[in-house]
Amino acid sequence: MSKKIYLYGNWKMNNTFSETEKFFETFTPAYEPLKGDANLEVGIFAPFTSLWPLSQGAKKNGIVFGAQNVYYEAKGAFTGEISIPMLKEYDVTHIIIGHSERRHIFLESDEVIAKKVKAVLDAGMIPVFCYGETLEERESGNTFTVMERQLKSAIDSLTPEEVHKIIYAYEPVWAIGTGKTATPDQAEEVCAWSRKLIGDDGAVILYGGSVKGSNAKELLSMKDIDGALVGGASLKPASFLEIYTAYKG
Ligand code: PGA
Repeated sequence: MSKKIYLYGNWKMNNTFSETEKFFETFTPAYEPLKGDANLEVGIFAPFTSLWPLSQGAKKNGIVFGAQNVYYEAKGAFTGEISIPMLKEYDVTHIIIGHSERRHIFLESDEVIAKKVKAVLDAGMIPVFCYGETLEERESGNTFTVMERQLKSAIDSLTPEEVHKIIYAYEPVWAIGTGKTATPDQAEEVCAWSRKLIGDDGAVILYGGSVKGSNAKELLSMKDIDGALVGGASLKPASFLEIYTAYKG
């Protein structure tokens, strides 16, 4: 039996409320032929203000949906933040945590990210935990040191069951939004290494960084890559779903 593929789209700061409604006008018929495929799990992660139309479109299509960030406290004096109970009322089940743009532009530390991962798990939700090295870190030979720090700080204090619930996304920072993709061998090397470090053969590990139809087959065919976290190509239903159809061949 072929493996299950996770095709997750991270819209980042794109798609307003009305643009999200429009997205589903095209997505729904395009997804129809893939709907019954038990080896495919599609998910979309939208800005907070688009979560309502996203939840409606996602429920109609039976796909996973979620947010791109959350704060770890349940309520209080945290101006500008969104809490887990707020997201629960939208039926959100999955939340991206530790995306490289959160780490590098908004300076989220490993410590804050670890608290978010724990809070999401405590709420019975699934963190899509992102990690990955910068170009500088790769070129100086520090790829694995950096990733070990990122991964360990997130999972060290968790139970094996919690570790298993997390969906991991290896996203080399130099490959995000740059058009530069890690080679399948580079991506596989890190994902296989991650699986060992995580200590869970059944961990779900995605690759992210300029994934598109033209490179999907090679990347998704690698043994330790369970799917893709897709930015740019997820904004249009055709380029998003093409990633899975290209893989299937
Ligand atoms: P990209 O983004 O596909 O546009 O490179 C991936 C991501 O940041 O999740």
